[in-house]
Amino acid sequence: MAILAKPSCTLLFILTVSVIVVYTTIRSRLSHPTANPAAVKNLYYRNAFLSFSSEYTVAAYLHHLTLQPHLAGTPAAINTALYVKAQFEAHGLETRFSNYSTLLSYPKHSSVSAQFSNDTIISLPLAEPNVPQNGVVMPYHAYSPSGTAYGKAVFLNYGREQDYRALSANGVEVRGCVGIVRRGCGLSRYEVVENAAAYGVAAVLMYTEGGPLSDINNSFRGGVERGTVMKGFGDPLTPGWAGISGGEKLDPSDPRVTQRFPSIPSLPVAEAVAESILSSLEGPIVPYEWRDNLNGRIRRVGPGPTMLNFDYEGEQKLATIHNVFGVIRGSEEPDRIVLLGNHRDAWTYGAVDPNSGTATLLDIARRYARLLRLGWKPRRTIVLCSWDAEEFGMIGSTEWVEQNLVNLGSKSVAYLNVDCAVQGPGFFARATPQLDDLLVEVTKKVKDPDLNNVILYERWRSAKKGINQIQRLSGIDSDFAPFLQNAGVPSIDLYYGSDFPVYHTVYDSYNWMTNFGDPSFQRHIAVTGVWGLLALHLADDPVLPFNYLSYAAELLEYKTLLNNLLEGRISLHPIDAAIKEFTAAANKTEEDSKELRENENVDESLVLRKRMLNDRLMLAERGFLDSDGLQGRPWCKHLIYGPHGDTGSKVEFFPGIIDATSQSTRLDEEERQAAIRHEIWRVARAIQRAACALKGELTRG
Ligand SMILES: *[C@@H]1O[C@H](CO)[C@@H](O)[C@H](O)[C@H]1NC(C)=O
Ligand SMILES: *[C@@H]1O[C@H](CO)[C@@H](O)[C@H](O)[C@H]1NC(C)=O
Repeated sequence: MAILAKPSCTLLFILTVSVIVVYTTIRSRLSHPTANPAAVKNLYYRNAFLSFSSEYTVAAYLHHLTLQPHLAGTPAAINTALYVKAQFEAHGLETRFSNYSTLLSYPKHSSVSAQFSNDTIISLPLAEPNVPQNGVVMPYHAYSPSGTAYGKAVFLNYGREQDYRALSANGVEVRGCVGIVRRGCGLSRYEVVENAAAYGVAAVLMYTEGGPLSDINNSFRGGVERGTVMKGFGDPLTPGWAGISGGEKLDPSDPRVTQRFPSIPSLPVAEAVAESILSSLEGPIVPYEWRDNLNGRIRRVGPGPTMLNFDYEGEQKLATIHNVFGVIRGSEEPDRIVLLGNHRDAWTYGAVDPNSGTATLLDIARRYARLLRLGWKPRRTIVLCSWDAEEFGMIGSTEWVEQNLVNLGSKSVAYLNVDCAVQGPGFFARATPQLDDLLVEVTKKVKDPDLNNVILYERWRSAKKGINQIQRLSGIDSDFAPFLQNAGVPSIDLYYGSDFPVYHTVYDSYNWMTNFGDPSFQRHIAVTGVWGLLALHLADDPVLPFNYLSYAAELLEYKTLLNNLLEGRISLHPIDAAIKEFTAAANKTEEDSKELRENENVDESLVLRKRMLNDRLMLAERGFLDSDGLQGRPWCKHLIYGPHGDTGSKVEFFPGIIDATSQSTRLDEEERQAAIRHEIWRVARAIQRAACALKGELTRG
């Protein structure tokens, strides 16, 4: 024993030291914020979520969803609603429907014939060639009035004010003509048609120039872009309230309804059809500024000598639309809601638009279900939303937001939208700025779908060198619009690819996706990763992952840009002061967040303090809403982000001020300045309201 005593003593010593070292390491890990048990668990679930990817499953969802065309309000559309519901149910989610009876619009008949100068009369092909069109709706503009027109053809370029000025400068009279417009420059279809009507044009033909991919596959050139020409969003019969069956509805002839539709009829046509007309025109040469990207065969603007005989007949009718929801109830804060939404209705087969997003949403449901089986209990409630009738004007989501406005306003944390998940290469994201940091963090966790051993974030950042990596949400081009612009819910919109040649055409099919859009389905996997992780953070982080300092920085940048725009002639002092207040509140909130994040789950008494802080973080965005909304667009209540009436401008902020600067040119200078100053004060007050909400205190003094 004695002989053994020495070595065993040493052994004991080593053992004791090792135990102490291991113990202190574990202890220090545990007391480190990222290593507390809740954070460790969250990390485990997030990694598991990413590891559950399966391109076969996403592809199978997409294949099933796109078997038939499924325009909103048709029997095939109900089949997709039932399919989505069945998938949510199969994954064990609580499911529900939210149906509305709304005014949709369908075509009955269309024809356009051209009489060329040599007197040949040709009936122009309006349908798309070479495809089985079983149940595919003919190309049309939803909510276009029915009507006929006979007049000279004239080229209107993009249909902007400046295009009409250029025509007029060349002595071109467009009154009574049938105008031909190419799509572009950010104008909505409604704006294009109403501008034309204002100049006396009798009817409009719209065409879309082929994207870069159309050169790869010429057969897409025959594609025709369908779309809505309704102004604003939501059911036209129930402006501001939900279109529930049996509820109040305006009469379809009510001016409040009809003012949302253009006053002259329009139709979409294929690029080749438009070119055959345009290349036959005489009259002045195409203005120099129009020639960028313009087909070389188009040399003169008309009017005539080619005559067009235009005829469109459509019908508007009440149709039932179906939103479908899958719900995962929160375990600790079930009354705080994180929403993920995508629309399901399509003009045709909708493989890109929108069912790449629907397939992704279903894959998130599948992966979340697996997390639940691993024991995951989200802290807050997650709602997966599948919207109907988005293509007609965000109708399904808008009606639901209108019906749930109070609960959404007081309980929703964020709305995460995906419309076309994949339309081509390259990641794009739009967000309200308090979510910028989270977006960046999440994209650092997801693999790039097109390059091995590269993370999505790196590729995204290098592709966007020198320009803002994260875009903003001023457009009204998808279902985030009612959430952000009407209800003031912080929002994100994600997609792969900037545009695609088969947009709203019959060629937007599963075949196109597997040949061109995403043959390996890896881009779908990347979107699922980013979308699903964003929601996991928003649902599980004890302190909401919002940072309002980036909002403050953005506001400051907007103020500087606005000052340049106004050439310093109007004081921005009210906005300046409000931004200072907002920045101070954002700084204080960030300090509070840091403190409470570091105390994560250590002290039970912090639960209420976290809840109070989260309310400030959650509600600040609502401060930017103004109950009167934007002038002429009262359903857009957000004064920082929203569409503006100045159709030529690309400014993406302060829509009310931008409108006042451009639309008030008809006023005398004094009135004009007063209108601008009023809008400046409105924005300043909105920023102050947001600052107040962020501080979480009543005003003093
Ligand atoms: C909504 O419509 C679907 C499909 O027709 C139907 O099965 C469901 O019962 C409806 N739900 C409600 C709440 O009306
Ligand atoms: C072009 O697209 C059509 C329709 O998807 C397809 O059938 C055809 O094979 C494509 N052609 C080429 C050259 O890829």
